[in-house]
Amino acid sequence: MNTFLELVRQRQSVRRYDPTRPVARAAIERCLEAARLAPSACNSQPWQFIVVAEPAAKNRLAAAAFGGVFATNKFAAVAPVLIVVLREKSTFTAQLGGWVRGLPYNLIDLGIACEHLVLQAAEEGLGTCWLGWFDGRAVRKALNLPRSAQPDIIIALGYAASGDVRAKNRKPPAEVWRYAPPAAK
Ligand SMILES: Cc1cc2nc3c(=O)[nH]c(=O)nc-3n(C[C@H](O)[C@H](O)[C@H](O)COP(=O)(O)O)c2cc1C
Repeated sequence: MNTFLELVRQRQSVRRYDPTRPVARAAIERCLEAARLAPSACNSQPWQFIVVAEPAAKNRLAAAAFGGVFATNKFAAVAPVLIVVLREKSTFTAQLGGWVRGLPYNLIDLGIACEHLVLQAAEEGLGTCWLGWFDGRAVRKALNLPRSAQPDIIIALGYAASGDVRAKNRKPPAEVWRYAPPAAK
């Protein structure tokens, strides 16, 4: 792995984990540190990360999160670590700016922090999968969180069962970026 772009190319959603390989606490904490250092609107840092690594607690969380219609994400139960990401309120200024612009800055901020975490995991040789499809109410209950808590994302973390890197399925460059034409004189 040499460049940042190579890291980005190799990062992929991992849906098959090796359950026999635990993740060292130091590696988990480097991922959390990368998330902690993420930028945010008005430096609000509107996030909390709850690391669920103890097997019984993790299994209870997975059973709650991925039941019923959310069962497509049951694969995540095999990951040795699940990180529940809570969205918090932005600072007053960021909320005001977001209201004027019609933008939930705290949601943008959360996404940036999660991707920092996921890219640090890739740097560590760890696999991850962002999970947005889960039973939020059941997650709150499993973790004894107040009703006001907003578990927006779960990140599955662990070593991938296979080292294969899939080809990326992405829109071609011409569909996603362009240079603005020169300003009219
Ligand atoms: C906000 C968000 C929510 C996602 N939710 C899920 C999910 O619930 N289950 C899942 O298997 N993948 C989920 N993904 C992963 C995407 O499906 C995946 O990133 C996308 O298909 C591109 O594939 P890649 O990550 O392998 O490059 C989510 C990704 C993001 C960013």
